[in-house]
Amino acid sequence: MAHVRSLFFKGPLDTVENRAVKAYKLGRPSDVIWNITNRCNLLCDHCYMAADGHTRPDELSDDETIALVRQMGERGLPALFLSGGEPMMRSNFWEILELARSLDIRVTVSTNCTLMDRDAAKRLRAAGIDWIATSLYGPDDFHDAMVRVPGTRRRVIEAIKVLREEGVGVAIKTAISVDTWPHIYDLIAEAKQLDVGLLYFCDLITAGRSEGEDDGRITPEQWRELGDFIIDDILSEDSTMEWDIGAMPSFIPYVAEQLTARGIDVSNGLERLKTISACPVGKGHMNINSEGGIMPCQFAQDWTIGSVREMSLQEAVSELYALDQQESKGVCAPEACDYSRICRGCRAKAWQRTGDPMAEDVTCLLLAETDRSELVAQIAAAPEFERSAPCAVPGSC
Ligand SMILES: C[S@@+](CC[C@H](N)C(=O)[O-])C[C@H]1O[C@@H](n2cnc3c(N)ncnc32)[C@H](O)[C@@H]1O
Ligand code: SF4
Ligand code: SF4
Repeated sequence: MAHVRSLFFKGPLDTVENRAVKAYKLGRPSDVIWNITNRCNLLCDHCYMAADGHTRPDELSDDETIALVRQMGERGLPALFLSGGEPMMRSNFWEILELARSLDIRVTVSTNCTLMDRDAAKRLRAAGIDWIATSLYGPDDFHDAMVRVPGTRRRVIEAIKVLREEGVGVAIKTAISVDTWPHIYDLIAEAKQLDVGLLYFCDLITAGRSEGEDDGRITPEQWRELGDFIIDDILSEDSTMEWDIGAMPSFIPYVAEQLTARGIDVSNGLERLKTISACPVGKGHMNINSEGGIMPCQFAQDWTIGSVREMSLQEAVSELYALDQQESKGVCAPEACDYSRICRGCRAKAWQRTGDPMAEDVTCLLLAETDRSELVAQIAAAPEFERSAPCAVPGSC
C-alpha cells in the first residue's frame, strides 16, 4: 500500500500515516491487515485468498480474537484493516470492531459490501469508522460474472450511496489485470460521481484462484500511463482523490521521478520513504490470517513467520525487522538500482516467484534509460532514519 497523495503532499491519510511511521521508528507494529475469516458469500474468479463458503478448520475462537485486539491496543497499534474472506460474515465482527475503536485503533473495513445496509452504515459511523473499502471491477455484467453472484454490483453501488449519506468515507478497490484494465478509466469517473475519496489499484496477485496467471498482469507501459493520469489528477486543483497502489512499489519512485521532472518538491515523500519504503515488508506492517498465522505481507499467504497463538505482536515485529535488514537482490539490489532502499521491490512477488523473499521484482515499471541524477541527489539529502529500541510502554516514548 502506498498512498500517493498523502505521501508527497497533504492528503486525507497524513495523520494515520504519521502515526504508523512513528510506530515503526519506535519498533512497534505500524499496521495490521487481519483476515478475520476466510468465509465468503462471493466466489471471485481472481481471489488470492481462494475464499469460499467454508470456514477454515482452525479459525481463531471469539476469545482469541478479543485477546488479540486487546494486545493490539496495548501495543498502541495505529491502523487495523479488517478483511477476509468477507469480514462482515464473522459472527463477532462488531465486537472486534467496536473493541478496537475503544482502544483508539483506527479501523478500516475491507468488505464486498453485500451485507452493508443503512443500520450497518450508522453503526460504522457511530463507532468512528472513517473509511470502508469495497471492491468494484467494471460494468454490471462484467462485475457480476467476476464475483459469480448476479446482482452484486447493484448492491455495492446502493451500499456506497448509503455509506456516503451516513458520512462514512468510501474507498473503491480493484485488482488491475488484463481483464479489468479496459474499464479502469470509467471506474475512476464513476468513483468521482459517487463521492468516493480513495481509489486502490492492486496489481494482479498470482495466488489462490489466480495462481499461475502471470500473463494476466498489465504491462509496465500501462502502469506508467496510469501513473501519469494519477499525477495529473493530484496536481489538478479540483480533485482531492487519494490514490493507493498495491503490489507495485516501483510506482512510487516513478511518481517521484515524474514530479521532480516537473520541478515539484518531493522532499516530504522522500524523507518518509527512507523510513518506510514503498514495499512495507519488514516495517512493522503484518498480515494475520483467520487461523492466527502471521505473514510479512497479505499477498503471500504461504509466507508465514509464526502464529499469534505462540508469538506476541512485538516478537513478530522484531522477526520482520530482520527481513528489513537484508538487501534486495538482482535488479532491485542497492548496486543495481538507485531506489533500492526507498522502493525495495515487491517482496511478496519475489517470494512467490522464487521462494526467496529478497529476490528481484521482475515487474518493475521504471524506464531503464531515465536520467536519475537529480532524484538520487535529493534522496541522499533527505534525513537518515534511525530506529530506536522497541519502546516498552506505548505512549511513553
Ligand atoms: C481478499 S478481498 C477481502 C475483502 C472483501 N471480501 C472484498 O472482496 O472486498 C480484498 C481485496 O483483494 C482483492 N483481490 C482478490 N484477489 C486478488 C488478486 N488475485 N489480485 C489483486 N487483488 C485481489 C479483492 O479484489 C479485494 O478488493
Ligand atoms: S475477493 Fe473478497 S469477495 Fe471476492 S471471493 Fe475473495 S474474499 Fe470474497
Ligand atoms: S528495480 Fe526493484 S527496487 Fe528498483 S525501482 Fe524497480 S522494483 Fe523498485
